[in-house]
Amino acid sequence: MKLLSIASTIICTFQLASADWQYRSRSDLAPPRLNITISAEGTSPGYLFVAPFSGFPDVGNSHGPRQAAPYIFTDKGELVWSGFSYFSIWATNFQAGRVNGENVLFSFEGSHNPGYGHGHGHITFLDENYETVKELRAGNHKIIDKHEFHIIDEKTGLVQIYQPVPYDLSPYGASKKQQWVVNAIFQELDIETGKVLFEWSSLDHVSPYESVLPINEGQAGAGFNSSDAWDYFHINSVDKDKEGNYLLSARDAAALYKIDGKTGEVIWKLGGLPGITTSDFKSEKNLTFSFQHHARYLRTSEDGSKQIISFFDNSAHGTENKNGKQVSYNSASSGKIVEVDTKNKKATLLFNGVAPYGLLAKSQGSTQVLPNGHVLVNWGSEGAITEFDSEENPIFHAFVDSGSLGEHAENYRAFKFNWTGTPHESIAVASYVTDGGSNIYVSWNGDTRTEEWEVFSVDSNGDKNKVSTAKRSGFETKIHLPGEIYETVVVQAFDKNRKFLGESAQVKIQDEILPYREAEVETFVDDLQPVLSWKQTYFDWRKLSF
Ligand SMILES: *[C@@H]1O[C@H](CO)[C@@H](O)[C@H](O)[C@H]1NC(C)=O
Ligand SMILES: *[C@@H]1O[C@H](CO)[C@@H](O)[C@H](O)[C@H]1NC(C)=O
Ligand SMILES: *[C@@H]1O[C@H](CO)[C@@H](O)[C@H](O)[C@H]1NC(C)=O
Ligand SMILES: *[C@@H]1O[C@H](CO)[C@@H](O)[C@H](O)[C@H]1NC(C)=O
Repeated sequence: MKLLSIASTIICTFQLASADWQYRSRSDLAPPRLNITISAEGTSPGYLFVAPFSGFPDVGNSHGPRQAAPYIFTDKGELVWSGFSYFSIWATNFQAGRVNGENVLFSFEGSHNPGYGHGHGHITFLDENYETVKELRAGNHKIIDKHEFHIIDEKTGLVQIYQPVPYDLSPYGASKKQQWVVNAIFQELDIETGKVLFEWSSLDHVSPYESVLPINEGQAGAGFNSSDAWDYFHINSVDKDKEGNYLLSARDAAALYKIDGKTGEVIWKLGGLPGITTSDFKSEKNLTFSFQHHARYLRTSEDGSKQIISFFDNSAHGTENKNGKQVSYNSASSGKIVEVDTKNKKATLLFNGVAPYGLLAKSQGSTQVLPNGHVLVNWGSEGAITEFDSEENPIFHAFVDSGSLGEHAENYRAFKFNWTGTPHESIAVASYVTDGGSNIYVSWNGDTRTEEWEVFSVDSNGDKNKVSTAKRSGFETKIHLPGEIYETVVVQAFDKNRKFLGESAQVKIQDEILPYREAEVETFVDDLQPVLSWKQTYFDWRKLSF
């Protein structure tokens, strides 16, 4: 008896992978329910790509998604694909991309150390059937970290590596016992062969003096041993432009660096904190940023003297003033677009998408400029996503899970992509007796083509008889068939041109005995509106003359 009650306590406390009965055809799935708080007309076409997970599950029963995994959603909050069980261990930075002409999904997959913000693993690629087609590891006997994988020209991949090394840290305020530092490394890999085409290491080019993260006892990264190495630079993104030069976001230097693609030398540094960081540019007053993520080149002028870049400005850090407390420089995080003018040594803020609800992300985050000029910003540790139109208005906002599960949900990066999925998983069907009729539930995890379902009853000879045609609605379609109880059914899928796509297994009808509550399965859409307190200046950076 005693043992049993301990077991049930454990089960109640860790409801991690338990099914939540959102979908009767997929009682194995318990995806996060997006809490959509802003939902205006005119969002960009495309699906949302996220990988929500539980941050620190240490308060009450708030613990993030039941099934932390990569997911594809519509911006109405409908599930398109649950990647739960597709990746082992922990997965993040989930995206769609193209490699050598093929559409792929990819994600970091590996172990995760949330306290230090590091991961160890590899990049896993899936094809349009959601089958694993490749894994990519770093070269030169190093281990890929979770922060970056970025495809260049469909051929190469940029990855970064945290490599702890012993180092004399006494000039930076460390005691004799603190002698481990993180060498922040990035590599450009040939995706096909895994060959290292370029490798760069921070200690060869950037002095620890450029860090804005002091080396202190009592905070993550105090240098006492290799797992506690001082993370003085912390590369969290790498991009490459047409000229072959790299762009780094170095969180713990609160700066962006442009790196020569041949020599590895620093071409310029854009520091985010005037008076604290050094910078090769004079920044306009409204351009302070810090502890940023996800810097991307957007455009380069013909003569190369001006570049437009985007990044996520956290303006907050979790562990790191002298007492190991949170520090912040702006009152909310933001997605930024900045013009860097190397001729006039000037940096100008062109777009500033400020977090609704004053969200301040002390870790993680991303900013994706969409083809139509909208900007999708992901608020990292705050577990939320916003789509801004090109005038900085939030037109979509969602927290990545709901209720108590939403309280500790975090999400490293979020993207919007077009995607066609042709799953090898089969069509899932559940069928229930209801008031002398049948209720059929049908879904197809990851399929993006089905427009119509056809339901057939199967008689004792195995002959099929069509009993209904129904439009697909969302992830799971409920088809109510009054007046008849069909003992066995199969369901077929058709695309918009009435092309046959697939057929489910034969499914027997069951009695309706399950504790199913409709109210719990709706996606939450609150009418809560954000406070529009920031300045609404319209500056369309796309209309610039180059
Ligand atoms: C490394 O140092 C930290 C900080 O002093 C300590 O908490 C941790 O236990 C040490 N780890 C190992 C493996 O010695
Ligand atoms: C930032 O300030 C500069 C100079 O005053 C101005 O040109 C720019 O439009 C401002 N940016 C934003 C996004 O408000
Ligand atoms: C959705 O988010 C809002 C804002 O944080 C919160 O007030 C509300 O309770 C959330 N709703 C659900 C169902 O989680
Ligand atoms: C998706 O495709 C449409 C049509 O080609 C395009 O307008 C849109 O920008 C694409 N969306 C994304 C997020 O790339």
